[in-house]
Amino acid sequence: MEVVICRDAGEIGGIAADAITLLLQRKATAVLGLATGSSPLAIYDELVARHEAGEISFRQARGFTLDEYVGLPVDHPERYRTVIDTVFVSRVDFAPGAVQGPDGAAAAIPAACEAYEDAIRAAGGVDLQILGIGTDGHIAFNEPGSSLASRTRIKTLTRQTRIDNARFFGDDVDAVPTHCLTQGLGTIMQARHVILVATGRSKAEAVHHLVEGPVSAMWPATVLQHHPHVTVLLDDAAARRLQLVDYYRETYQSKPAWQGI
Ligand code: F6R
Repeated sequence: MEVVICRDAGEIGGIAADAITLLLQRKATAVLGLATGSSPLAIYDELVARHEAGEISFRQARGFTLDEYVGLPVDHPERYRTVIDTVFVSRVDFAPGAVQGPDGAAAAIPAACEAYEDAIRAAGGVDLQILGIGTDGHIAFNEPGSSLASRTRIKTLTRQTRIDNARFFGDDVDAVPTHCLTQGLGTIMQARHVILVATGRSKAEAVHHLVEGPVSAMWPATVLQHHPHVTVLLDDAAARRLQLVDYYRETYQSKPAWQGI
């Protein structure tokens, strides 16, 4: 697991966008795993800027979102399928239908989850997965106690996650859905490269467990310690509880540029 402590969200966006740019140059048909929430916004803004400058194209690329609320009407602005369109997909040149998400409105939920796993597999798997992390250590919506081998399924959101996400629902925690469909930890672990972004003090405890804690379903993101290629991009506030912070800084500063992330 590589830990990079950045100046700010702008630097985080640049480092992640460099990796995505290189991937698209090597493989125009790359499959991207797209997180919603606040953490990846700087990455999406940087990718949009590069697209507008004619530096990258998503014309042949595919995308899969991580999760979706259950029970939101299809025209609800906080539906993750709508959010990812607004913040990223509609601002670049993905082909129509190239970005998919789990169907939170499906009548038959288990079948919809299985279909989502099949679609990811049929696309050849995710080449690069962007992740945020919840204050309770979730990735996608794999809440504490999630099986480390889980696949796409329905989950109940913790009270903490609903409180954290109430800001998107007019600060009304009761307006945040109680259930979601989410890629499982086992699903995410099959992505070839994972870039996890965390900024701000509220993420410091989860980041401490992710990077330096024991692997445990109580802090689901810790499963990433078993992944061979994970890059964790942090700001100072999110890194403040890390023990080996000086080592992470020195390692990144002395890294040869050709290595990338
Ligand atoms: C969103 C997702 C979640 C968020 C996490 C952090 O698709 O899967 O795991 O990444 O809740 O959210 P933000 O970035 O808003 O702090």
